[in-house]
Amino acid sequence: MSTLAAQVPLSPSELKLLQTLIYQECGMFFDERRSQFLQDRLQRRLKACQMDSFYSYYLLLTSAQGKKEMNALLENLTVNETSFFRIRPQLELFKKTVLEELLRKKQERRDWSLRVWSAGCSTGQEPYTLAILICDTLAYYYLRNPPTPKPLIPPPWKVEILASDINYSALLTAQQGIYTETQMEGVDYTLRLRYFDKLADKYVVKPALSNLVQFDFHNLKTEFLPRRNDVIFCRNVMIYFDSAEQKRLVEKFHQCLNTDGYLFVGHAESLFGLTDKFCMIHDNNATVYKQMEKAAR
Ligand SMILES: C[S@@+](CC[C@H](N)C(=O)[O-])C[C@H]1O[C@@H](n2cnc3c(N)ncnc32)[C@H](O)[C@@H]1O
Repeated sequence: MSTLAAQVPLSPSELKLLQTLIYQECGMFFDERRSQFLQDRLQRRLKACQMDSFYSYYLLLTSAQGKKEMNALLENLTVNETSFFRIRPQLELFKKTVLEELLRKKQERRDWSLRVWSAGCSTGQEPYTLAILICDTLAYYYLRNPPTPKPLIPPPWKVEILASDINYSALLTAQQGIYTETQMEGVDYTLRLRYFDKLADKYVVKPALSNLVQFDFHNLKTEFLPRRNDVIFCRNVMIYFDSAEQKRLVEKFHQCLNTDGYLFVGHAESLFGLTDKFCMIHDNNATVYKQMEKAAR
């Protein structure tokens, strides 16, 4: 048996070094509970790089040539579980309360732009769900004045959905927008017909819908994140950060939202103890946080 196939010993100090490096790079924090997962993934990467010491691997990651390997490591560490229409009560709240209010207020100001960010979008099901909900909400405009050909977003509205992640492979899958029958479970028949094309046994997001979503790489750990958002969805991402990093991220989200913008976090996550710059709205089993300007607090 080759020595590379065997497990390479990982000392507590090497583990600490790598843990700290990963935390500094992307905010993911591996506590006791997730330490075995981290060690397994590190062993996997060490083997892929054909290296026989974790200290050499650490030096590779911190070298000028190490960027590619850092991305590969992060791809191995992220949890990309997601689905279409995940946690429906939150999406109902988004559609019925948040969107209604935003559209009404914007219409009064004759501001026809709407910008929504899915931060940590994984393989795309979340931003495409948001695109579908926005299109459906705006659809009633057609009743008054149907243009030809029918665009999904009626003029003069301009909708941008930004979808970002740290995992390049997930982003590529998201951009391709091709999903299996199992992945389509949450999407009902009418929505499938309207927003997807059938290609053999798969479903492909129609160009009219995918054109509304712009995929990009953004590491939520970095200082400069996309601004001027009306709504941010960052669900099931902060759960992997420690509370210091969660606080920093929520502060950045506050900066990245327009006044009175909304933040959705995962339904098992909360802003409790992290900030006093948002007010919580809870309705029908779902929660959203509304950004408060300093003056209003
Ligand atoms: C569990 S998925 C959640 C997907 C989707 N938001 C949902 O709730 O269905 C978490 C995503 O967060 C991404 N992620 C983790 N750390 C990140 C970081 N520092 N910056 C950007 N994305 C990150 C992962 O790559 C992964 O795709």
